[in-house]
Amino acid sequence: MAIIKVHDKSFDIYLPEEKIQQRIKELAADINRDYKGRRPLFIAILNGSFMFASDLFKYLDIEAELCFIKLASYKGMKSSGNVVTSIGLEDDLFGKDVIIVEDIVDTGKTLHNFLPKLIHQQPKSMKIATLLHKSEATEFPLTLDYVGFDIPNKFVVGYGLDYDGLGRNWKEIYQVV
Ligand code: IMP
Repeated sequence: MAIIKVHDKSFDIYLPEEKIQQRIKELAADINRDYKGRRPLFIAILNGSFMFASDLFKYLDIEAELCFIKLASYKGMKSSGNVVTSIGLEDDLFGKDVIIVEDIVDTGKTLHNFLPKLIHQQPKSMKIATLLHKSEATEFPLTLDYVGFDIPNKFVVGYGLDYDGLGRNWKEIYQVV
């Protein structure tokens, strides 16, 4: 199926499953190479990153830890931008090699506001892996270390990403028509 409907909007196929998986394998290969002999802690940001984190993790052959945390909510088709709090971060980050796992970086505000809280715990290193980056929309300075796809500034759903709670279950990524 090429066109799907989520709530009141139509979405057209943008990234097929094979393309997403192939790119995640490449990112995992980069991470396997960069972190050989180390044991990074992946901090995946819920809800959107659950599929990406799961697939990325399967392609790793290094020792690695994983935890999921929740930040602010994202309502409708516009980023609320207000990071409220983080829930679920039990690990002590001191001295650890941390890799943040995001589904998408849009304005960059979420991570820009949240990273200082993590850096405060003095991890040994901190990198960001994001499946998608809307570079045209990014307003807040961020260094993205592993980027799956740089995409246009158009709303997308699927592969963990939602539009008002729906659309996360698709294996592909769809772009609003
Ligand atoms: P930022 O703070 O503007 O970078 O927004 C980051 C968050 O907004 C992501 O983690 C997503 O939850 C959400 N988001 C941004 N763009 C989209 C989109 O096109 N589809 C679904 N969610 C999005």
